[in-house]
Amino acid sequence: MGSAINSLIEKGVLVSPELIEQEIDDSLVKEITDFFGDSLDYLDKEIIDNFQKQKTKEEENKLIITQTYNNPPKKRTYQDFVNVFNNRYNNIASILRTRRELEGTTTISRLKDMPNERVSMIGMIQDKNYTKNQAIILALEDPTGIVTVIIRKDDNNKELYDTANDLVLDEVIGVTGKTSGNAVFADNIIFPDIPLNKELKKGPKEEYLVCLGDTHFGTNVFMEKEFRKFIDWINCRAGSEEQKNVARKVKYLVLTGDIVEGVGVYPSQEEDLEIKDITEQYEEAAKWIKQIPSHIKIIITTGNHDAGRLSEPQEPPPREFSQALWDIPNVTMISNPGYVNIGKTKDFPGFDLLLYHGGSLIYYADNIPSIRSAGGQKRSDLIMKFLLQRRHLAPTHGSTLYLPDAEKDYLLIDLVPDFFITGHIHRSSVSDYRGVSMINASCWTETTDDQVKRGLEPLPARVTLINLKTRQPKIMNYLTKEAKEKEQEKAKQAKQLD
Ligand SMILES: [Fe+2]
Repeated sequence: MGSAINSLIEKGVLVSPELIEQEIDDSLVKEITDFFGDSLDYLDKEIIDNFQKQKTKEEENKLIITQTYNNPPKKRTYQDFVNVFNNRYNNIASILRTRRELEGTTTISRLKDMPNERVSMIGMIQDKNYTKNQAIILALEDPTGIVTVIIRKDDNNKELYDTANDLVLDEVIGVTGKTSGNAVFADNIIFPDIPLNKELKKGPKEEYLVCLGDTHFGTNVFMEKEFRKFIDWINCRAGSEEQKNVARKVKYLVLTGDIVEGVGVYPSQEEDLEIKDITEQYEEAAKWIKQIPSHIKIIITTGNHDAGRLSEPQEPPPREFSQALWDIPNVTMISNPGYVNIGKTKDFPGFDLLLYHGGSLIYYADNIPSIRSAGGQKRSDLIMKFLLQRRHLAPTHGSTLYLPDAEKDYLLIDLVPDFFITGHIHRSSVSDYRGVSMINASCWTETTDDQVKRGLEPLPARVTLINLKTRQPKIMNYLTKEAKEKEQEKAKQAKQLD
């Protein structure tokens, strides 16, 4: 007999004889005692079994909202903007200070007393220019001052030069190098980055996470046939036996914003709308989302086409328009960006998911030399890696619409996620960076002539599926044969105009 059972008996609780003979785990008895408190006057095997069953049920499919933004009404002041940059510097500097290369950093004001010395420092890029010899000149600022950092262009430091060439204004970096006159010649640039030792976390059970993006319910180019095929699969009505078997094990589904097409998002959008009222668009969305089995936890964030304010962080769509979605019991609405944890049990920490619609992605596709030359918006993998390395979803001020919050920088990637899931650029991609799965979640709209004119090649009607036990991804393509031909033709036209 364990000591927990013994103390129950001493307290006067009636314990069935079989429990006295058996070895019952003390911690389990303690959990039961804590749960029932003084109302526990009798304990037998049945009570223990029911308690364990209930506990397993609660642990299954666990979803915790780790971070979501709700916009407290307040007046913004100039000081809020100052605080944003101070916060940014302090938060990222504290990540950088854990790096071995940056042990013993010097504040910038002290550099003038250190001629011809090896130094390391942390600063925010206030300005970036090129000399006529293509050397890169940075103005690096910390709370004590500003220093000029020079990165020469020569064959011996190509890697460093390429890294510096991709640097953006307002990002916070570490620099090591040698002082000379009033400047520092850099020999290394250090990003806050994802720690090298981050493990690729694997879950205890074969369960699946499904990623959807940019459904745009209400547009006249919604891919209804394709979406219906997806709904048939997730309800185990379509697909091979193996595929149906996987559908049965789907436990979580995320939708990364642009749930609806919205109204008044761009001039004369009216002509492209199948449903012209925003509330009716959300009702249409709810009609489809309700068809996803109710045991699947659905996490939805918002996008630039959705109702509500445009500036990030965006709170979830207002109930006033989207009540139909809020009413679905297995739907959880979070802000953009937002963090959730899924699958946590007593013995497993769960997976951290960072959901971001992706307002800043296009800026980095267009403005980072290495990304632009590798394909721009077609390289969502490189854009997402760039942001993870900076530990910020919009390192340059102005790369996305942003409304500062004095207390917290919601675009900071302070918690290293296991999954970083975006949408917005309508490409379907999955890749991995230092144990973080990076997913851009396709879309459910046909490619429009306007997208073709802009040289874009969306990859619509794809579903990303992740086996949480192995972390193996799979992209399921729901394009019908005729849609596939149409999309191929559009892609050809876009390539010609690119
Ligand atoms: Fe979209």
